[in-house]
Order: sequence, then C-alpha cells, then structure tokens
Amino acid sequence: MTERRIPVNLAEQIVKLKHEKNAIILAHNYQRPEIQDIADYVGDSIELSRKAVEEKQAKIIVFAAVDFMAESAAILNPDKQVLLPCLGARCPMAQMLTIDEIKRMKKLYPQAPLVLYVNTLAVTKAYCDVCCTSANVLKIIESLDADTVLFGPDRNLAEYAQRKTGKKIIPVPEWGFCPTHLLFQPEDVHILKMQYPDAVVMAHPECNLEMQKTADFVGSTSQMCKYAMESNAKTFIVGTEEGLLHRLKKDNPEKQFILAYQEAVCPNMKLNTLDRLYVSLKDEKHLITVPPAVAKKARKALERMLELSG
Ligand code: 13P
Ligand code: SF4
Repeated sequence: MTERRIPVNLAEQIVKLKHEKNAIILAHNYQRPEIQDIADYVGDSIELSRKAVEEKQAKIIVFAAVDFMAESAAILNPDKQVLLPCLGARCPMAQMLTIDEIKRMKKLYPQAPLVLYVNTLAVTKAYCDVCCTSANVLKIIESLDADTVLFGPDRNLAEYAQRKTGKKIIPVPEWGFCPTHLLFQPEDVHILKMQYPDAVVMAHPECNLEMQKTADFVGSTSQMCKYAMESNAKTFIVGTEEGLLHRLKKDNPEKQFILAYQEAVCPNMKLNTLDRLYVSLKDEKHLITVPPAVAKKARKALERMLELSG
C-alpha cells in the first residue's frame, strides 16, 4: 500500500506551514468554502489588490484565485513571493484581449483613453491608461476627461458603464465575455420570483444587460455582500458564481440566498483545492512573475486605478 503524501488534516497543516513560512492566504469570493475558511482575507478583486499592496509583514502571499489577480499582486508588491496554488487557474475572459486588437482600436480612436478591466493579462494592461474592477468602473470612467472611452475585455461591463455614466463606451474586443456569467438569464429569475415574490435580486455586471436590468442591485462580489448585509430583505436571488453564497450565508445566517442559475460555477476558480494549496505553500510554487518592463507599465495603470478609486 502506498503512503499518503499529503497530511490528512490539511487545514491544520496549512495553518502551521503558513506560520513557519511567514505567509498569508488571500482568497477570492469564488473560492471553495474550505479555502475561504482558511484564508487570512476573502474579498473581491479590488479588495485583494489593496491587501496585496498593504501587506508588509509576510514574505509569501498565496493567492487563491486566478492568474490575473495573482499577477496584479506580484506587480503591486514586487518584494513578495506571490504563489498561485494551481497554474491552470486562468480566467478565460483575460485571454480574450490581444495586443493586436488594442493597437487596431487605438488607431481607430486615437483620442479615446483605454480602460482595462483587471481581468486582463499584464502584457495588455501595459497598453492601457488605467485599470478598473467591477466595484470602481463607474468612478474610474467618470473621472476621465473624455466622452468616448475604449473598454475591454468585458462587453457586458462596458454596456453597464455606458448605461450608468452616459459616456460612449466602445468594447474591445466587441464580444468579450465571462463564460460563467453568460449562464445567467432573466427568465430563470422570473420563475424564481414566482416562488419567492419578496426576494431581492442581485447581479454581477458581467451578466448580460437583460439580467442586469432584472436585478435590484448590480455590483461587484463584495458590494453584493455589503448590500445583502445592510438590506432588510430576508431572501436574495444571486446572479454570480456560486462561491459567493458561502460568504453570504456565513455573514447572514438568518437570510436565504438562492443562486439564479444552479450550474453557475467558474471551473477555473475551482482549480484551487486545499490539497493544491498545501503543496503550493510547502514547495513554494507556482511563483508568479511578470517581466520588469511589462510590470512597470502595468503598475502605473493599476496604481492609477487605486488612486482614482480612493
Ligand atoms: P469581483 O471583482 O466582483 O470579485 O469580480 C471578479 C471576477 O472575476 C468576476 O467574475
Ligand atoms: Fe474569469 Fe468569469 Fe471566472 Fe471571473 S467568473 S474568473 S471573469 S471566468
């Protein structure tokens, strides 16, 4: 019989290793419950970026999320070792924007600033004027002295920004989307509302425009947590990745949360498991690095976002 390499009580072992190695674990709101429960901090992409910048003590940041979030942490805090538990945890939306497409659109709209969603790779961030997340997109776009803005790669977030700011937002590419949020459709919400007529509907702006319009509240994952906490409502229909329900239920045990589409899972986020997190910390892998010339330009866009979003 082969010996099991990984200790059975992983959670305890991870906490022990974390102290020995002077590491912290930052986890996105979509991570598996057991990862959220062991993390030092759980949040949305802007909160995690801020935590990565503010972290002074730790030598290692284990970033339980997807590639672009870990990359941003490595760019914003170059003195730390940033580890991604599973190298395969890549956001497909971030792959949808190419440098060629950016160059083509910049040529067509030479006066328009380029705002990029943080869900992009560092090589593309290096070409933009400023980054944004779903939590600060409106603030960032409103702060720009321009009525026409190039925005990528999420078309739904571009439409949300256009609807809310009244500016002309040109999506780059024309068709960028999140495969997980694409699953949400307003018909499902209408049926659920027949069953739960008093339920409040929350949706992420990566959902399509019809789904956004069906929602009582549209915001980032952590903004949804805040909204649910402050609301007097007892039942919520949630239009985002299923991982958020763990935090929503934990923070509001007396309230009920129903996923607007049962199979709304981001398989990429879920590639991080407790086993992989343990191995990542033990073997100090997978180290996320960004070439210095790219990091320098991308850092400017990320820092400008942090400044503008206050
Ligand atoms: P948040 O910034 O709202 O957490 O969103 C990140 C993301 O990847 C949504 O799909
Ligand atoms: Fe990317 Fe969508 Fe997964 Fe967020 S939920 S990491 S946008 S694929």
